[in-house]
Amino acid sequence: MPATPSANRLQNQIALITGGSSGIGAGVAKAMAAEGATVIVNFAHSTDEAAAVVKEIADAGGQAVSFQADVSKEDDVLRMFDFVREKFGTLHILVNNSGIQMDAKFVDMTLEQWQRVIDVNLTGQFLCAREAAREFLRRGPQPEISSALGKIICMSSVHEVIPWAGHVNYATSKGGIMLLMKSMAQELAPEKIRINSIAPGAIATPINLTARDTPEEEKSLLTLIPYGRIGQPLDIGKVAVWLASDESDYVTGTSIFADGGMTLYPGFADNG
Ligand code: BGC
Repeated sequence: MPATPSANRLQNQIALITGGSSGIGAGVAKAMAAEGATVIVNFAHSTDEAAAVVKEIADAGGQAVSFQADVSKEDDVLRMFDFVREKFGTLHILVNNSGIQMDAKFVDMTLEQWQRVIDVNLTGQFLCAREAAREFLRRGPQPEISSALGKIICMSSVHEVIPWAGHVNYATSKGGIMLLMKSMAQELAPEKIRINSIAPGAIATPINLTARDTPEEEKSLLTLIPYGRIGQPLDIGKVAVWLASDESDYVTGTSIFADGGMTLYPGFADNG
């Protein structure tokens, strides 16, 4: 899918993308860099993949660096924000994107599977959002760069509203992100910090490869998507750019579903 021609909507802005080394995070990092943002590609383990994303951005004329940190660990998050401040002076955009699945039937789910998914997907978003908000408040307004003091985008999922058997840890984390995002948005709107979520449906990334790697599975997945195609990371990147730009300056506390209609209850189209 071709990238949208750059309009420099994020010129002079510093953007941190957690989990930016693959999947949706990599798509968001590239889309934001194409709009003029300087991008920090955070990764937990995939050093080579993060380096490849940074190289791709640089080859396209953009600015990017990678930084290792596990978002579920407070010390790592503090170290990452120190790095961002020291290297770039401040931050304007946080994309809280890191997320994992550790699937199991409910009765078989271990505490470790439950806890790790909550730690990365939910606590990781809390820790990074808290540090980003602290940095926005410390820095103060820069109206020549952006109307808002700062922008936070939480990567949620259609599973913030669609229950998901076999994935209760994941669905719980995404439901939690919805009210984390809204409560933070309510508290920080008076400070001119805008906080929103993107709720993707099935996007072609490594996280759901096993649900679409045979023609039968892909066909079955497509029955859930009225728009008739699996999404691409750039579909989400484009929404993230808009949410981070001043074009959405009056938008805060909302989830944008980018899901090809997955949340339209397609099973009811000729039934019920
Ligand atoms: C999950 C994917 C899944 C999609 C739609 C996402 O949040 O990570 O594995 O394909 O939701 O169910």
